[in-house]
Amino acid sequence: MIVIGKVNDLEKAVDAFRNEGKSIGLVPTMGALHEGHLSLVERCRNENDVVVVSVFVNPTQFNNKEDLRTYPRTEEADKALLEKAGCDIVFMPSVEEVYPEPDTRVFDLGQVAEVMEGAMRPGHFNGVAQIVSKLFMMVKPDRAYFGEKDFQQIAVIRQMLKTEGFKLQIVPCPIVREEDGLAKSSRNVRLSPEAREAAPSIYHALTDSTQYAQNHTVAETQQFVIDYINAHPEMEVEYYQIVDGITLMPVNDWSDSDYIVGCVTVYCGGVRLIDNIAYKQK
Ligand code: PAF
Repeated sequence: MIVIGKVNDLEKAVDAFRNEGKSIGLVPTMGALHEGHLSLVERCRNENDVVVVSVFVNPTQFNNKEDLRTYPRTEEADKALLEKAGCDIVFMPSVEEVYPEPDTRVFDLGQVAEVMEGAMRPGHFNGVAQIVSKLFMMVKPDRAYFGEKDFQQIAVIRQMLKTEGFKLQIVPCPIVREEDGLAKSSRNVRLSPEAREAAPSIYHALTDSTQYAQNHTVAETQQFVIDYINAHPEMEVEYYQIVDGITLMPVNDWSDSDYIVGCVTVYCGGVRLIDNIAYKQK
């Protein structure tokens, strides 16, 4: 595995593989790697000749300075995990290397970027589009892998692909969970023991709600999830929205779409966690 810090070196290394006719897969990450990331690397390994993983805590997607400052950073452990997972190139640049000048690009990400996370975290998706587009331009991958825990992020990146004209395949990968159902996340390490104990209720609320939904309206199901989670003193729902899985627009009735997903954000002992579940799958 080669560890690269400079954009020029990354481009040269990837070009050399591409000139040999090899397919390139990219897994963009912000490090603090866990089994969720490793499932993306494994899928990338199976589907491409060359696996590139970026590890970069992207400042432009944080709209909260404290969140950026306290974001977990475990570079040595990340390298060891990636080596074991069969990664070929790990790109670990500095902030100055990626942003020698401030990135002032504003992306047209459409309505998928305006709802839910877009409404709660202004500028977040523009920052994601800045770094992901830079990585796509540097690596020119055939495929890029993203976890479905960040369900809205995938929709936003697909939209960016369209407006920016990138030709590559986006591969969404299923959420990986702890045994008790909590979605794996780099933020889980910040949970206090009490919050960690409470956190699996998010998944239980979501799975129970798929049963509840069979004979209740969308609005009732939405309220069911909010009440279930808020019943726990450690937790507070920021939003729970049941939306069309493609447009991310709220649905009012189960017959409104044949692809319906519920997306939740919860403050759990002060740590912001997200999760989602499909009510109707394409
Ligand atoms: O999902 C993430 O970890 C980040 O948003 C990404 C895609 C690596 C961009 O910084």
